[in-house]
Amino acid sequence: MITKKKVLLTGGAGYIGAHTAVEFVQQGYDVVLIDDFSKSDDTLLAGIEKIIGSKPVFFKGDCKDRQFLDKLFSEHKFDSVIHFAAYKSVNESVGNPLMYYENNLGSMVALLDTMKKHVVNEIIFSSSCTVYGQPDSIPVDETAPFKRAESPYGATKQMNERILEDEVIANKNLKAISLRYFNPVGAHPSALIGEMPIGVPGNLVPFVTQTAAGLRQKLTVFGSDYNTTDGSCVRDYIHVVDVAQAHVAALEKINDMPGRNEIFNLGTGEGVSVLELVKKFMEVTGVKLNYELGPRRPGDIEKVYADPSKAKRLLGWQTKLKLEDALRDAWRWQQKLG
Ligand code: WQD
Repeated sequence: MITKKKVLLTGGAGYIGAHTAVEFVQQGYDVVLIDDFSKSDDTLLAGIEKIIGSKPVFFKGDCKDRQFLDKLFSEHKFDSVIHFAAYKSVNESVGNPLMYYENNLGSMVALLDTMKKHVVNEIIFSSSCTVYGQPDSIPVDETAPFKRAESPYGATKQMNERILEDEVIANKNLKAISLRYFNPVGAHPSALIGEMPIGVPGNLVPFVTQTAAGLRQKLTVFGSDYNTTDGSCVRDYIHVVDVAQAHVAALEKINDMPGRNEIFNLGTGEGVSVLELVKKFMEVTGVKLNYELGPRRPGDIEKVYADPSKAKRLLGWQTKLKLEDALRDAWRWQQKLG
């Protein structure tokens, strides 16, 4: 039996990281997780343990801490790194740009430096469709140019992709894949791991499930006068388990890529409006959601959804789960959280 690679997941206690850890373990990989718990705690680590049936190998630490990274890479011979660790709140980044630049860029640079020193040559980066801004044409494919990022958070995703592009040129051993997530939603079907927003959720689906659970008084739909079928914004909502499985597919194909720095959209290829999602949630759960139409949220783009064909062609990956699966799983997770 060939042993699968040893993989480091940074930000492994977070929403996407935890779901991806489960998929890698279940595919037989040797997985190590790190997280500084700045935006998470050990709740999802406990959930991972219940799903995989053993304690995940975890070390608490900051990706900007070169001493921590150097010790870790000295003690573990990693083949690959999946880099999730980053701050991800659009809103928070507007008020704290320096915190976002220092953390999101500092951790990428420290990580790449440490990988070079320890000759770890494969990295998969958690990027975002936010790099596109409002694309000129949709569905959007990976050749679409960056628009000026709407937030420092979005700017760090663009800059980190540029850092990888430059480091792959400088470091001939390095192979990189950036995965541009559209809107990850939902939770693991076991309801043992899921999204854990801190404070008032900025993202739509956790706000919907918290409203349904009575934790929020009502959902405000941000904008009903957009140039869309029902006036509300359109996004590409992708089940988090599909996102997680794309990381396994990407690592399995990283040595078969045309170039040493490839970019892939992770989306369903279908656009769904806020109002369509709200109605689908009520249909799937039977819960009557209290919502109202409100003013637009500054910085929101009107419509974006993916052309996911490159990932299908080169990674052999496409989404399997539907929006209704994601909404059902999100609701079951919310009911577990209480
Ligand atoms: C989706 C739609 C809102 C809340 C951002 C990041 C992206 C990714 C996901 C970080 C929008 C509307 C929302 C609410 C609403 N990464 N909405 N009422 O802004 O598309 O993407 O989060 O997590 O990189 O850019 O996601 O879920 O915030 O909003 O009407 O209470 O739902 O206006 O149209 P977004 P979102």
